[in-house]
Amino acid sequence: MTADSVGFDRAATYYDATRGFPPGVDRGAAALVSRVGGLTPESRVLEIGAGTGRIALPVSRHIGEYYGIDVSASMLARLRGKQDGHKVYTAQADATYLPFPNSSFDAVIAVHVFHLIARWQHALREVARVLRPGGKLLHCWGGRMVTFDVLMTAWRSVIPDEENQTVGANYETQPDFLEDEGWQPLSAAEKYPFTYQKTPQEHVDQLAGRVWSRTWRLSDETLQAGIAAVQAALQAHYGDPTIPVTVETDFTAQAFQPPLG
Ligand SMILES: C[S@@+](CC[C@H](N)C(=O)[O-])C[C@H]1O[C@@H](n2cnc3c(N)ncnc32)[C@H](O)[C@@H]1O
Repeated sequence: MTADSVGFDRAATYYDATRGFPPGVDRGAAALVSRVGGLTPESRVLEIGAGTGRIALPVSRHIGEYYGIDVSASMLARLRGKQDGHKVYTAQADATYLPFPNSSFDAVIAVHVFHLIARWQHALREVARVLRPGGKLLHCWGGRMVTFDVLMTAWRSVIPDEENQTVGANYETQPDFLEDEGWQPLSAAEKYPFTYQKTPQEHVDQLAGRVWSRTWRLSDETLQAGIAAVQAALQAHYGDPTIPVTVETDFTAQAFQPPLG
């Protein structure tokens, strides 16, 4: 972890098991990214915060060269371990200081990363610098797990706001953070909907196990208070919390061009 970013070394062993797409969805998400970005077999693309390659590996099938950087060596090691003819080149690097010359890429992909970077505006300036004229930022994100809102409402009722903050861009309080920085949308946000099965109990166990980065800096006391509130909601709303429910969600992509001038 660099001083002002949340690196994912601690998540490398469980990231794919807890964030991976259901079978087949990776191909749909990759097709969406490629279409929204106008990517072709000639495209040269960089992903900042490439992690274990959840996006990089399937998207790399559609394009010429894919470069993935991440501050976490452990996450990138997982990516490399899954490479099977994928043309993905990885480097441990920080999005706020990209090790590439100006005008290097046709597109930069960022998926769930700006909220982890305290100097996210600086990272955006780096993205603009390495994009070729006419190049695009493809900003992508996953949908909220609305299915478990009753649990998350209970969680938020006891976790103080200041402890629930992200270190970087806060997509919830500032959903237009890119436009606020002068980036111009080239398309509407396009969604690829999908579903999967998960038990409410598993969701609570993941909160208690600090699977999500937002739980990493909570004190044990705060975490326990959150889990107690969620357990109460679990008992009140689910007869048998070990029965899987269908989670409806989506993967969204939107293309932006850098600020003019
Ligand atoms: C939530 S994961 C997303 C990984 C991948 N994009 C995906 O969608 O599966 C965020 C990744 O960003 C990385 N990260 C955090 N701060 C970073 C920074 N300043 N520069 C590069 N990577 C960073 C983390 O180490 C982690 O691997």
